[in-house]
Amino acid sequence: MYQKLMEQAVKAREQSYSPYSGYKVGSALLSKSGKIYLGCNIENASYTPTICAERTAFFKAISEGVKEFEAIAIVGGKDTLSPSCTPCGVCRQVMVEFCSPDFKIILGTPDDYKIYTLKEMLPYSFSQKEL
Ligand code: THU
Repeated sequence: MYQKLMEQAVKAREQSYSPYSGYKVGSALLSKSGKIYLGCNIENASYTPTICAERTAFFKAISEGVKEFEAIAIVGGKDTLSPSCTPCGVCRQVMVEFCSPDFKIILGTPDDYKIYTLKEMLPYSFSQKEL
């Protein structure tokens, strides 16, 4: 399943709009009901409106009423896939809003990937539990 999710992230990366950084990212977000939402990074000439591949996938799902998630696969790199593309801090914080600490984050390439938990990637996070 995780390899299939990585392959979907590679497919999503093909849609990356990244003329400024040249860094293309793709993500595949698996909902608890088994549906996969794809996302890519979308950049802007004004830079700050840029959105990451991870948040694109999350916001697509959430805007369709889906708020329970199992895992996300993420791939990124310039010409070829980088083995060290990890989600940015803002995307990790969005994951904390909608996912449990054991939510899986799959990084690397379809042939060589590692599985992390959200708790590992964002320890001591701030969440709605504080409010
Ligand atoms: N980017 C992502 O889409 N996800 C990440 O996890 C890291 C960074 C994008 C944002 C920007 O378009 C490009 O990669 C370079 O930062």
